[in-house]
Amino acid sequence: MPDIRKAVTAAWEAAWDRGEIDALDAIIDPGYIRESAGSGTTSGLAELKLDILDVRGAFPDLHTTVDKLIVDDDDFAVFWTSTGTFTNALAAVPATGRRVQTRGSNQGTLRNGLVTYERVTWDQSELLADLGVPSLRSAFEGDVPEPVIDDLSGALSADALKGFNRQFFTGVTVVTTVDAEGVPRGLAANSYASISLEPPLVLICVQKTSSTYPALFQATHLGINILSNQQRSTVATFASKTPDKFASLQWHGGAHGSPLIDGSSAAIEAEIKERFQAKTHTVFIAKVTQSELSDAVPMIYKSGHFFDGASLDEL
Ligand SMILES: Cc1cc2nc3c(=O)[nH]c(=O)nc-3n(C[C@H](O)[C@H](O)[C@H](O)COP(=O)(O)O)c2cc1C
Repeated sequence: MPDIRKAVTAAWEAAWDRGEIDALDAIIDPGYIRESAGSGTTSGLAELKLDILDVRGAFPDLHTTVDKLIVDDDDFAVFWTSTGTFTNALAAVPATGRRVQTRGSNQGTLRNGLVTYERVTWDQSELLADLGVPSLRSAFEGDVPEPVIDDLSGALSADALKGFNRQFFTGVTVVTTVDAEGVPRGLAANSYASISLEPPLVLICVQKTSSTYPALFQATHLGINILSNQQRSTVATFASKTPDKFASLQWHGGAHGSPLIDGSSAAIEAEIKERFQAKTHTVFIAKVTQSELSDAVPMIYKSGHFFDGASLDEL
């Protein structure tokens, strides 16, 4: 019988680190069952191989270390750590280009020296916080129901909520970033909220259909500009899908390159810390790294109308 420790480590590294998925055939029993400790779902060797190829597609430099392998007769446990760079999109989730690390353990049984059953315990939270998806499988397969944390459906009509929102006065911001080619991007947004002063956290909600969204999702930093009563045409530009929204604008880059628009009432640059998924939108949580204030009077927005923040006259 081959040394199970050496065989498992070699096949594991071949499959996960180099994509040689058929190396698993040497250590896995034909009746192999893989169970997820979290969801209780089971799969076989073919699904495991496809999962490995999917994960390696998104993280081509994936590297897995077998931290500990314990074998006790026909029982075994493997403790592992994987690191990789999120280089290619995972289903609908754009790559962030960031290195992520995830750890897990597999406990299982052997039959004739081959792995016949595995129960995989994997705390996905570290990895998923960076990916911004609720579960890895839901990122691959849109039709697999996600574990229900909260059912967001309800009897309230869209009109009722619209009516509620129309009673709320806000300012108007332009959220900006630069894309991978260094091109400035941005959209008008009134979903800005301050979260805390210590640490200095803010949030903004962005619709995933926004053309600015992929650049924002991949960015490390973003800019938030509070528009002034002199910038009515700037709102129109940034609430549109005009290709070069910055063409006739004066702006300067923050310390990390985020466009800060001249003439705004105030502007911040912030480092993106979290990307929470809220169905059609992503909630970006960012830590403010730079802040600029001017005397320009801010613009006010209510139910489709824009007002001067000092005189309250409609703009
Ligand atoms: C006052 C106002 C507030 C808006 N707030 C948001 C917002 O918070 N989040 C969002 O995703 N879109 C918001 N929008 C809509 C976007 O600005 C609009 O969809 C824009 O065309 C997006 O541009 P893009 O697709 O080029 O990124 C708002 C529009 C206006 C006029």
